[in-house]
Amino acid sequence: MFIVDYRDCRGFPRSMSERIGILTAGGDCPGLNAVIRAVVRKAAAEQTEVLGIKNGWRGLVEGDVEPLTRDSVTGILPRGGTILGTSRFNPLQDQATFKSILANSERFGLSALIVVGGEGTLSAALDLWREHNYPVVGIPKTIDNDILGTDFTFGFDTAVGIVTDAVDRLHSTAESHHRVMVVEVMGRHTGWIAAYGGIAGGADAILVPEHPFRLSRVCDLLQHRRDQGRAFSIVVVAEDAHPHPDEDFLNSEITDQIYRHDRLGGIGTILANEIERCTKIETRVTKLGYVQRGGSPSPFDRVLATRFGVKAYEMVQAREWGYMAALRANQIISISLAEAVRDIKRLDEEIYRVAEVFFG
Ligand code: F6P
Repeated sequence: MFIVDYRDCRGFPRSMSERIGILTAGGDCPGLNAVIRAVVRKAAAEQTEVLGIKNGWRGLVEGDVEPLTRDSVTGILPRGGTILGTSRFNPLQDQATFKSILANSERFGLSALIVVGGEGTLSAALDLWREHNYPVVGIPKTIDNDILGTDFTFGFDTAVGIVTDAVDRLHSTAESHHRVMVVEVMGRHTGWIAAYGGIAGGADAILVPEHPFRLSRVCDLLQHRRDQGRAFSIVVVAEDAHPHPDEDFLNSEITDQIYRHDRLGGIGTILANEIERCTKIETRVTKLGYVQRGGSPSPFDRVLATRFGVKAYEMVQAREWGYMAALRANQIISISLAEAVRDIKRLDEEIYRVAEVFFG
């Protein structure tokens, strides 16, 4: 482990909050622009400069930045994606990378950095603070809603809306053709999107990583529905849903393709084939993919992102380094990044029990 103490660098820390950097890193999600706007508007009201770092940590390494003013954030609230760009670049991959971050932070006169990201990004931010005393404040974002310590992340509500709309639409075509429709959704290693989208859309089965599934049970359930005169069914499957270890319909080659840590996806197609084979009911698959991350944020996500942005600015003022804005019982609070990244937040059992009531 290389150690460079941020406080040892000439010129740091400067007077509080005179120029704050902000970056968005990891996968994009709806609400990122709302967060950027909130930070810039709050800072502008207090005569603090904000420097936008382009394309996640990569921009800090390459010195790719742009000043953000009130004008530059006008009209971005309803826009999806991030005006700053993003990347999955790791800032702690080696000492040279970290030194560039430090040198550019000094060159641009940054007195603090607001990092908007998911679990990987926030872990890197924590390391920067813990190992190098780099003054950083975090904001959690992801459609997956898998970050500990916050009831919700922004992006999730919008993604659930997209899944719900898709499931609604699939109902009418499934019904017309008397088919089973398998809908594969994102969520990384958790079933939040699948469970919320499935409950909201009225799915007949929801398969999540937290509860390994048995193919025979899924097929029995679908067959039973048909026997009861329900000629179509909708199955929502999370991208990391696994069959029970006893099940043998996945070979190791397929398993390696579907459950890659860097890119999950494909269980929906396999499942649809297996369902058709065991039930003899015509079955189709829809993989929603990146559609779930695109487009305009929902009102809930706009408000949450805005509250997080304002809070993060206040945390910088209070020098709450190594902390993150979070939502708890509808209050915006700050929690330590260490608490947030110690594990992922798995699907709440209560939510799953509610979903189960409607299986079949
Ligand atoms: O974390 C958000 C997410 O969309 C996951 O749901 C998905 O598994 C992953 O990102 C996809 O990542 P990438 O953009 O690198 O393909």
